[in-house]
Amino acid sequence: MNHILGLSAGFHDAAVAVLNSNGNIVFAGHSERYSKIKNDPGISPDMLHELCDYDIDIVAFYERPWMHNLQQWRSGQRCYGPWTEHTAIRSYLGSWYKVPARQEVCFSHHLSHAAAGFQTSSFDEAAVVVIDAIGEMDTISIYHARYDDQGRAKYKRVWRQGYPHSIGLFYSAITKAVGLKPMEEEYITMGMAAYGTDLGAAWMKHKFVDDVETVRFKKNLHIGFDEYELSFSHNEDIAAAAQRLTEEMIMSVMRRARRLVKSDNLVYMGGVALNCVANSRLGQIYDKIWIMPNPGDAGSSLGAAALAYGERINWRDAFLGHDIPGVYPVADILDHLIAHRIVGVASGRAEFGPRALGNRSLLADPRGADIKNRVNEIKRRQKFRPFAPVILEECVNDYFEMPQNFPASRYMQIVARVRDPNSFPAITHADSTARVQTVPRDGSGIRQLLEQWYLLTGCPMLLNTSLNIRGEPMVNDRADADRFEQQYGVKVCS
Ligand SMILES: [Fe+2]
Repeated sequence: MNHILGLSAGFHDAAVAVLNSNGNIVFAGHSERYSKIKNDPGISPDMLHELCDYDIDIVAFYERPWMHNLQQWRSGQRCYGPWTEHTAIRSYLGSWYKVPARQEVCFSHHLSHAAAGFQTSSFDEAAVVVIDAIGEMDTISIYHARYDDQGRAKYKRVWRQGYPHSIGLFYSAITKAVGLKPMEEEYITMGMAAYGTDLGAAWMKHKFVDDVETVRFKKNLHIGFDEYELSFSHNEDIAAAAQRLTEEMIMSVMRRARRLVKSDNLVYMGGVALNCVANSRLGQIYDKIWIMPNPGDAGSSLGAAALAYGERINWRDAFLGHDIPGVYPVADILDHLIAHRIVGVASGRAEFGPRALGNRSLLADPRGADIKNRVNEIKRRQKFRPFAPVILEECVNDYFEMPQNFPASRYMQIVARVRDPNSFPAITHADSTARVQTVPRDGSGIRQLLEQWYLLTGCPMLLNTSLNIRGEPMVNDRADADRFEQQYGVKVCS
């Protein structure tokens, strides 16, 4: 066997992942970074150029196209895609797919989510919880996953919930109701929640939820709320109530998983697993938790490839995309930071997943009162949104109160209370928390930069936000970085 190509496309945020015969991830990337169309559902030909050196034996699609079409029909969206894995793979790969792979396969939507999590985890067995908006006809799945004596991954689904009862659709409907873009800006709704009061959560539950335990809603929220249905004075209060109710439902699902699967290990996947405020509570139920850093549908390209491979795959880090070669420019970045300048970095392989983790980042000194406004001037985003800190992992407890059973946070998946918010206002949210990224002693570029910064200043952390031109996806290649420099007058080091 040479290589397996995993493919996720056709709905939103298309992506590919390539595994070699040793179970190593040789490439994983998002189409949007190449086409410059945010959440691009199609596969960019420019991304496929990256794959020219690989002999592809198997192409694995992340869902069953006929089941997706069935769901579209059932929900009244009469926009059907290809019906078979063959037509789907052909249509998304286009003329690049001149030499067909020996095998074309597809897997169920939620199983692809589950495999992307379990087979990248260090666990030998685990409860796997998948929560998203809709995947084929599923909205929540709980699996018991394990490896058999031959090292083959085995999945047994022990519970499911189906359309239209969906935590993800509820949160998207709330996102639309507060004036944001559903299926894209849910993370802004989550940030907005810190500015409101959640006193309306009980009313919201009574009005829309039939049963929290089984996550059953009283109405189908796929098309959103009626115009005057949410009688709140402020959008922030809607967001806060919805966040509280969402957390209650997620925790109910997790308690169910704990009862049904006798395991201390949790793998959590699906788009709802991007809600880092809710994630911070998972340690109340589970001792060991793994959320693959790309838990949404894009990450399922890796899940489909993992299912075709069948065994544990080697997860090292999330730097799996386009490569900007060269040594990480530590000295150049430090020169700018010491001079109190905001500086970009575009170096090494791009992040697979929605978070900039140091290879496509805008960096700044997190100390001082004015830095948030200065970075916001460049990013031109809502003023209420704080920026994230990236910190040497061994120093994290000196600056943050980490949530239970999360000693580290290498992929910005949880929030932690800031011990001294007044000293770090730029990275502190309205509720005194921060979405912290910890960096272990892994020899990465961002690790070397933080070590040098700490030596020079005594501060082990930097402000880290994604490097992107407003309205565009994250910077991918050097040409994007050059455009960023011209547009904002901010140096991007490579
Ligand atoms: Fe999904």
